[in-house]
Amino acid sequence: MQLRGTMREDSNGALSIGQINTQALAKKYGTPLYIIDQGCIESNISNFKSWFSSDLVETEIVYASKAFINGYICRLVAENGLGIDVISAGDMDLLKKIQFPMSRVYLHGNAKSKQEIKMALALGVGRIVVDNYDELQRIREICAEYSYRANILLRVNPGVETHTHKYLRTALDSSKFGISLYQNDVLSKIKQLSSDPYVRLMGLHCHIGSQINEEAAFIRTVEIMLNFCAEISAQTGIGLTELNFGGGFAIYYAKRDTPPQLSSLLPAIVRKAEEQIVKRNLSLKKIVIEPGRAIVGEAGTTLYKIEAHKTTYSGRKYLMVDGGMADNPRPALYNAQYEAVVVDKLSVDKTERVAVAGKCCESGDILIEDIMLPPTENGDIIAIAATGAYNYAMSSNYNGLPRPAVVAVKNGQEQLVTKRQELQDIHSCDVATDPL
Ligand code: LLP
Repeated sequence: MQLRGTMREDSNGALSIGQINTQALAKKYGTPLYIIDQGCIESNISNFKSWFSSDLVETEIVYASKAFINGYICRLVAENGLGIDVISAGDMDLLKKIQFPMSRVYLHGNAKSKQEIKMALALGVGRIVVDNYDELQRIREICAEYSYRANILLRVNPGVETHTHKYLRTALDSSKFGISLYQNDVLSKIKQLSSDPYVRLMGLHCHIGSQINEEAAFIRTVEIMLNFCAEISAQTGIGLTELNFGGGFAIYYAKRDTPPQLSSLLPAIVRKAEEQIVKRNLSLKKIVIEPGRAIVGEAGTTLYKIEAHKTTYSGRKYLMVDGGMADNPRPALYNAQYEAVVVDKLSVDKTERVAVAGKCCESGDILIEDIMLPPTENGDIIAIAATGAYNYAMSSNYNGLPRPAVVAVKNGQEQLVTKRQELQDIHSCDVATDPL
């Protein structure tokens, strides 16, 4: 397994993260357990800030909190000066509770309710990213009723094909997100907005998908978006000031992944944008990106206890662990691949070819299909790496499993940041009435 962030092998061949022994964490907090390597997140943030910077325009990094959201990460993001991208009333409620600076909030979503739009306006979120014309009309009506003027970005779909999993592509001509910039009416709609009393069109947004390895797709997107800005300016006279290119930067999970080199890709995105702004004399003042996975993905590790071993009639060997698709649905949903180690056997020869099976009642609940590990016993702890993004955020109580705890570690210190659910939490909304 590739060691990431502050993961180290100590002198006893055991895995530590943030200078804390992972076996000790499993013992203290129980398993399954999500560990968050704060030092890794901080270094990712600082890399994003230094690589995505410009002397010509303002740059902003917005953390896509759908990857992993709780009060702790929102505070960390706020302290580090990033913006945040959220989706719902639930997300906004959390931001309000922890007093996140609302001007740095971007509200996304392709089916925003009236309640969510009203809440966003009342809280003063920085930008509402408008997905479709029905939503635009809804925002205008709410602004008219309550005397607001909303600062919006229009989400457009640049039609860039990517080679990620089909569920992670968002910019096909048939995708559900945004308004295709090849649709006939898009320029006239934008023109109407320039004199709208209820919304202020600040700029455009796009997001081409997630876990994208191809650098060329990102550069192509920048080109298309800048071309479109130039077309808007030429055809309507409107000078947009902001462009948001979304997120989607791939990370390393397992051998098949070839993530982009952010140290060269991010400066290349900035240079491409600067070059076009100057060449076409555009009025753009700010460019934005919205990474989620690339900030938190490799900072997360999940610890599981091996509960049972089995060799099937056909000879396949399984390790059965105490979590699975309830805490990590990604293998079942996207055929995601992961690497793992036995936390106290890093230097033991990997002689066993096994599958790591989750405990849910689904044949598809296999966390790792095929991996070489050292010989193991029941009770051993295994660590699956790169589970920081879209794991806790997508976890469920399937099969009555409590959501695991989340512990942050850094420089030899640890801190519980989300408690493990208790059994009574699992059915807490159950009214448990007699049948009718
Ligand atoms: N901006 C927008 C508008 C998005 O929809 C997303 C992700 C991002 C930014 C951040 O993308 P990232 O940098 O994290 O790739 N559950 C899937 C991923 C879904 C991505 C949803 N949108 C998974 O587990 O792979």
